[in-house]
Amino acid sequence: MAYKLLLLPGDGIGPEVMVQALSIIRWLQDHRDLDVELDKDLVGGASLAVHEVPIRDEVIEKAKEADAVLFGSVGDPKWKDVSFDRRPEVAILRLRKDLGLYANLRPVRLFDPLLSASALKPEVVKGLDLMIVRETVGGVYFGEPRGIETLPDGTRKGVNTEVYTTPEIERVARVAFEMARLRDGRVCSVEKCNVMESGLLWKEVVTDLHRRDYQDVELSHMLADNCAMQLVRAPRQFDVIVTGNLFGDILSDLASMLTGSLGMLPSATLGSDNGSGKRAALYEPIHGSAPDIAGKGIANPLAQILSLAMLLRYSLQRTGDADLIEMAVTRVLEDGLRTADIATKGEAMVSTEEMGQAVVKKMSELA
Ligand code: IPM
Ligand code: MG
Repeated sequence: MAYKLLLLPGDGIGPEVMVQALSIIRWLQDHRDLDVELDKDLVGGASLAVHEVPIRDEVIEKAKEADAVLFGSVGDPKWKDVSFDRRPEVAILRLRKDLGLYANLRPVRLFDPLLSASALKPEVVKGLDLMIVRETVGGVYFGEPRGIETLPDGTRKGVNTEVYTTPEIERVARVAFEMARLRDGRVCSVEKCNVMESGLLWKEVVTDLHRRDYQDVELSHMLADNCAMQLVRAPRQFDVIVTGNLFGDILSDLASMLTGSLGMLPSATLGSDNGSGKRAALYEPIHGSAPDIAGKGIANPLAQILSLAMLLRYSLQRTGDADLIEMAVTRVLEDGLRTADIATKGEAMVSTEEMGQAVVKKMSELA
C-alpha cells in the first residue's frame, strides 16, 4: 500500500528547497519502487494570503492521516504586525501541538568536506556528530498564563510561563536514552535548575528515569548557559543532549553553525505511537524561511533533502534510500559544490537548483 506523504512548503525559501526534495522523491519513485501518494498544501504566510489563517483545520487533519509530513519553513515579515495567534509561525506550532509531536531530533553532523566552512577551528570540530533532542510541545512556548496586559498605572506587562510535568519530561527523556543506545551511549540533560523550579523537576525526573530503565547509558547534567559555552569550546564531548523547548531552540541554532551552516541541518519531530505501530512524524530543515534570500535561487536545499532522508529512515523504514541520499550529499560536497552559505572566500557557488540536481545525479551514479 502506498505511503501518504503531505508536503507543506510554506514561506520564503521553503518552496524553493521543497522543489529539490520533490525531485528526489520522483527519482525514488522511478528508480527504487518508492510507493507514495503525495499531497501538498499551504501553511504560514502562504496560507494567510489565501485563507486568512496560518493553517486550516483541514490541513491539520490531513497531517494526522499522513504517514509523514515533509515541512519547509514558515515566517514572513509581511505578517509581522498581525496578532500573535495569526502569525505564520502558528502553523508549525499547531502542527507540533495537535499531532503531539513532542520530540524534535536535531542531528548536528559535520560533513568532512565542509570543515573549512565551520566558524570554529578544524581541530575543534572535525568528526563532530551529536544529536539534540528538543522537547517541542511544552515549556514556555505553550505554558499558561501568557499574554500582554495593561496595568492600572498604564504600564504594560508581558507574561510567558515555563511549565513541565513529570510525564512530559519522562517521554522526551526516554527518546533521548533510546537514541543514545543507537549512538555512543551518552546523554547530557540540560536545564537551569539553579534558577528554575521547572529545571529542578526536569533534572529529578531524568535522573529517576535513568536509574529505573537506562543504567546502561551514561547520564550527565549541565546548566543551559554552560552548555552553550561547552558547545563552542569542545563540542565533541557531547553525544545526545536532551533539553526543553526554548533551550533546545537556541542551542540547536548555535550548534548548527559548528557544521558550517544552518542550511545543512535537518530535523525530525516525533510523537507517540498511535497503537497501530504508526508514529506521527514531521520532518523539517531547522533553517526557517530566510526571507532575505527568498526567490533568489541561492538557498541551500541540503537541509530539506536531508530531512527527506530522515523521513525515509524513521517513518518509511527505507534505510537504503536514506543512506543513498546521505551518501550522495557527502559526495556532492566532496566534489566541491557549494551554495552561497557554505562557500568560503573565492569558492565558486552553485544555485539551489544546481545543488539539488547534482544530488539526484549522484544518486543515479551511486545506485
Ligand atoms: C524552529 C523555529 C520555530 C521555533 C519557529 C519558526 C516558531 O525557530 O523550529 O527552531 O521556535 O520552534
Ligand atoms: Mg529555531
